[in-house]
Amino acid sequence: MNQPAEFLVFGATGQQGGAVAHALRANGRKVRGFVRDPYSEKAKALMASGITLAVGNLFDRASIDRAMEGIQGVFSVQTSSPGGEVSDEQEIIQGKAIADSALAAGVSHLVYSSSGAAGKGPTGMGHFDSKSEIENYVRSLPVPSTITRPASFMEMLMLPGMGLNTGHFSFFMQRNQPMQMIALEDLGRINAHILCNPQQFAGKVLEISSQALTGEDLEYAFSNAAGFPIHYQRFSEALLTQNSFLRRLTELVDNGIVAGVADIPALEAMFGEMMKLEQWLTGPGKHLFSAALNAPQAEIALR
Ligand SMILES: NC(=O)c1ccc[n+]([C@@H]2O[C@H](COP(=O)([O-])OP(=O)(O)OC[C@H]3O[C@@H](n4cnc5c(N)ncnc54)[C@H](OP(=O)(O)O)[C@@H]3O)[C@@H](O)[C@H]2O)c1
Repeated sequence: MNQPAEFLVFGATGQQGGAVAHALRANGRKVRGFVRDPYSEKAKALMASGITLAVGNLFDRASIDRAMEGIQGVFSVQTSSPGGEVSDEQEIIQGKAIADSALAAGVSHLVYSSSGAAGKGPTGMGHFDSKSEIENYVRSLPVPSTITRPASFMEMLMLPGMGLNTGHFSFFMQRNQPMQMIALEDLGRINAHILCNPQQFAGKVLEISSQALTGEDLEYAFSNAAGFPIHYQRFSEALLTQNSFLRRLTELVDNGIVAGVADIPALEAMFGEMMKLEQWLTGPGKHLFSAALNAPQAEIALR
């Protein structure tokens, strides 16, 4: 924390915060990344790209307050219970602590990254309902804020256990049922644009997605990128019977809550063209796709 920064990014060593921090840097902005361990490889990579570090922990409010000093805009994201590191209650405490600290520090804009499943009534899944609660809290405070609700990440398609390495890929949607997804690169540049234009976005809630994809779309894009057929089917009934987490998520895809309601043409009008899965597979996702095609057999690892 040795030079003034305009933006404070939480989760800077993670998927979302990393994408936002790098997009802000690409816009030439000064960024401070909140990290637990300044000596981790990811923290060192942030520093190498010109991002300064604030060392702290989301369970330590004083460290959040120190990181806020002199900051104009904040990107807030927390891990959630499926990752196994926090409970739903702890996620809420962390999300509220960032908002309280932003208010106390007088920052001019807070962007809270929620989830596409939030703000649509109780879902019965703690890590979605926690985000609805944080959203309500953020909105209740007298600090200008924007809530972004990302769809499922394209990167999630590459997690172990879904079958890319077997030529038979399974996911939530039916073959002809669309589900919205977002590439982290789009998530990063959209949130960075919002942070850089607070007057335009304060007070707004934005559902964000790059593309609506059916199972058939996945089959087509994966087969093209791999150069051999990769078949698609929804998760089997046997798996959904045995795995209540996946079953509930599948129900939320079917009732529309996780399928996504982002207005993609309107987003493209505001933020420029969104990344399609075909582009992602040959661009930012290329190494993940290649690793998933060649991965050893594994249990499903979705969160
Ligand atoms: N996967 C999806 O498709 C999807 C879609 C929409 C929303 N979401 C939501 O996205 C969130 C996760 O975001 P992500 O994927 O960017 O997470 P991620 O890649 O797992 O990164 C988590 C970040 O939080 C930091 N962190 C964890 N605990 C911390 C603590 N106690 N104090 C300070 N920093 C801490 C980690 O730092 P370290 O480097 O120190 O570990 C890391 O930078 C979840 O709430 C999830 O529900 C996910």
